[in-house]
Amino acid sequence: MTDEFQSRFPVGTTLSYAQYMDIALYDESVGFYATVGRAGRRGDFLTSPEVGPLFGALIARRLDEEWLALGSPETFVVVEFGAGPGTLARSIAFAGPECAPALRYLMVERSAEQRALHAEHLEGWMGDVDAAGVETFVSGVGPGPKFASSPIAPYGITGVILANELLDNLAFDIVRHDGAGNFERLDVHHTGEGLEFVVAPTEVPASLAPVLFSAPAGEWMPLQEHAVRWLMEAVDRLDRGSVIAIDYGAATDEIARRPDMGWLRTFVGQERAGHPLDAPGGCDITADVAVDQLATAVRPTVITTQRQFLERLGISQLVEEGRQIWIEKASAPDVEALRARSRIGEAEALLESGGLGDFVVLEWTIGMAEAPEGSPENLR
Ligand SMILES: C[S@@+](CC[C@H](N)C(=O)[O-])C[C@H]1O[C@@H](n2cnc3c(N)ncnc32)[C@H](O)[C@@H]1O
Repeated sequence: MTDEFQSRFPVGTTLSYAQYMDIALYDESVGFYATVGRAGRRGDFLTSPEVGPLFGALIARRLDEEWLALGSPETFVVVEFGAGPGTLARSIAFAGPECAPALRYLMVERSAEQRALHAEHLEGWMGDVDAAGVETFVSGVGPGPKFASSPIAPYGITGVILANELLDNLAFDIVRHDGAGNFERLDVHHTGEGLEFVVAPTEVPASLAPVLFSAPAGEWMPLQEHAVRWLMEAVDRLDRGSVIAIDYGAATDEIARRPDMGWLRTFVGQERAGHPLDAPGGCDITADVAVDQLATAVRPTVITTQRQFLERLGISQLVEEGRQIWIEKASAPDVEALRARSRIGEAEALLESGGLGDFVVLEWTIGMAEAPEGSPENLR
């Protein structure tokens, strides 16, 4: 542990796991995302936007659907939470969606280091703005697309709130029940030799208790109050439109049954890292998102896998188009031909079983008569 981290977490003190995780990932001087960590091929983990531009092209189609469903408003606000280095926004801009003239796309990112990367290769970027700047930005009228970055998100949105692999990164606690109605949680204690888990009795929110009791007694599981709060706020921010969150997720019971707390994972430099208390601030810490915990707050309108979601948006058609472009230009390939060919490999990665294809896409439609296609069939 670095001296600086010790100054945030002095010897002899105890933090809840969620408090520890928040410092380890987001503290402005020692947190992983505020210092070295980031998504990308040259980063610490590969997310769907980082696979290539195909994912953004399909999200652009989903944005167009929503814009049309909203009656093609002249200002269409997209707020992407946890935008990381801004890759998804760049791919959406490149795809040139129909909604572009109306588009005000705000990248809400907690890490200033990551926000500093947003300007790169992004035409129409209006800067890193404060609360007043956010209000001005989202109330602007054509000609879009316009992009901006901020740590702050607006309310009163007509549009879409997006979050790809954000919820798995929000701080969570670790709890178990004893089968007789009592809960314990894992806290983190600084012994002077290092950090260690200590078990303490705890209470859980009454709204989440039934879902937590669905897990077997004695098994540790994540208690995702921050993710639930994020969802409730996201829904509050929308006048009309949809919240779309994409992540690896499962039911609490299924997560708790994974052997050796296999749901709690760390990453650095594209590799699985060690125990979450071993290198605080030096690795990403993440957990499967407990879909049923989120649903206690607001029931999703639609739940699909990423594979189903991207198939519905026409990934096969885009790949086939790419294949044709490649065949036509294979003898003298230009950038367009190479990009078209790369769609084949990108689609394989985005749809992969046991990988990104199995991610869950959760959609909450707010203030609109018609919900998008699908049904909350996977919800338990
Ligand atoms: C796993 S990365 C995902 C980045 C990007 N969405 C992608 O899919 O490549 C999660 C990002 O969420 C950011 N983040 C975490 N909590 C946040 C919050 N409350 N508001 C905004 N951004 C947050 C982190 O700093 C990090 O950049």
